[in-house]
Amino acid sequence: MARGTAVAFLLLAAVTLAAGANSPPARRPPARRPDDAMAPYTIGLWGDLPYSVDQATIGMPHLIADMNAAKLAFTVMDGDLKQGSNSPCDDGLYNRSLAYFNALDAPAAFTPGDNDWVDCDRANNGGYNSLERLDYERKVFFSGPYTLGKTKLKQEVQMDALCPGYSATKPYPLVPCVENRRWMYGGVMYMTVNVQGSCNNLCDTNPDPEEYAGRNAANIAWLNSTFAAAKQGGAVAVMIISQGNPGWDGADGTRTLRRDPKTLGFLPPRVGANNTSTCGDDTSSADGFQSWLLAVRAATIGFGGKPVVYVHGDSHYFRVDKPLQDKNGARVQYFTRVETPGDNAQTGNNDVTWLKVHVDPRSREVFAYSPQVVVANVANYTNHH
Ligand SMILES: *[C@@H]1O[C@H](CO)[C@@H](O)[C@H](O)[C@H]1NC(C)=O
Ligand SMILES: *[C@@H]1O[C@H](CO)[C@@H](O)[C@H](O)[C@H]1NC(C)=O
Ligand SMILES: *[C@@H]1O[C@H](CO)[C@@H](O)[C@H](O)[C@H]1NC(C)=O
Ligand SMILES: *[C@@H]1O[C@H](CO)[C@@H](O)[C@H](O)[C@H]1NC(C)=O
Ligand SMILES: *[C@@H]1O[C@H](CO)[C@@H](O)[C@H](O)[C@H]1NC(C)=O
Repeated sequence: MARGTAVAFLLLAAVTLAAGANSPPARRPPARRPDDAMAPYTIGLWGDLPYSVDQATIGMPHLIADMNAAKLAFTVMDGDLKQGSNSPCDDGLYNRSLAYFNALDAPAAFTPGDNDWVDCDRANNGGYNSLERLDYERKVFFSGPYTLGKTKLKQEVQMDALCPGYSATKPYPLVPCVENRRWMYGGVMYMTVNVQGSCNNLCDTNPDPEEYAGRNAANIAWLNSTFAAAKQGGAVAVMIISQGNPGWDGADGTRTLRRDPKTLGFLPPRVGANNTSTCGDDTSSADGFQSWLLAVRAATIGFGGKPVVYVHGDSHYFRVDKPLQDKNGARVQYFTRVETPGDNAQTGNNDVTWLKVHVDPRSREVFAYSPQVVVANVANYTNHH
């Protein structure tokens, strides 16, 4: 014991010396002893960034430095690499994002968002073919079984050819949904899955029911096999990370559509001023989320009361709540929804923040949430009244 400590101290001293007087001490990996796979650790969640030039050039470098200083086990970005309109989905967008990911010290996981593929077909984003842009994202971000970042984690990839792939004509060829991934870390099963805003590609410009149907079935298969793997591997919890806010119950019609929590089907839109719908999604279209939500609920209940967390972005409003009910209206208490912060209030780089999650695999709740204030960004905000 004592000898190991002395060696570790000498090594640290040597590294510090080698780094030179003007450099910060060399970074050490997160505090996890190799003999304790269940030791506590922290991860970083973020999404919906950057949405403006200010956020890209001022907010993002501050955000990256802040996450790097936190010595995280890994980070996950839950989609939307840019704003939804009036910004092109050109190749430079993905290149810019890759540079952000690869500036992160810790392994950087990513799941795509509607602003970086589904809505690229809007004329004001360049009128791209959405599936062609998803195909491009797969090449840029998902070409191998590793995360992005300066250090990488190996992930398991959904390799079955189940997702409709890009082609100019239908029927689409089926390709692997290589963005759907999972990895076990410290006793917890993490999973990313391609679930999208814009009604999961059933509304907005060029809705695409064929694309939706194939990907949604693939997503449900990935969910089921991930929960099976979690049970088999003795996972203490599951965290699902995707982009779209599917809506969960009747409580909040201002940022997404409202659902009957028992059936998980639509409630009629809440009507706002001048009889306009105040919902973020379109209840006049087919429902792109109900079958997915029913599968999430079944998988969660089938996991036997261990914590299940569903992380999404999309509506840019930080919250941690318990919106899931069973088919009789009883709350599923071990299920938590976490929405990451993101661009919201048009306050320059001020909205560029992230969420730290403390993971203690031996604790009852496993996860604790700590929204981060990126001081370098907030310091610039002097406009309070
Ligand atoms: C990609 O980004 C790098 C810097 O990260 C830049 O040097 C290069 O020109 C970019 N390429 C394209 C095609 O945008
Ligand atoms: C997923 O699991 C549910 C039960 O939790 C089952 O009803 C459904 O058929 C499964 N779907 C697939 C695609 O595996
Ligand atoms: C409702 O309509 C009135 C009259 O056209 C307009 O002045 C007002 O701004 C509208 N309110 C909203 C919330 O759109
Ligand atoms: C308000 O909208 C609903 C649904 O679109 C429509 O049926 C109703 O006629 C509208 N009411 C008014 C006063 O415009
Ligand atoms: C503060 O914001 C302004 C305008 O958005 C920008 O020009 C300036 O560089 C920022 N200052 C700092 C210290 O981030």
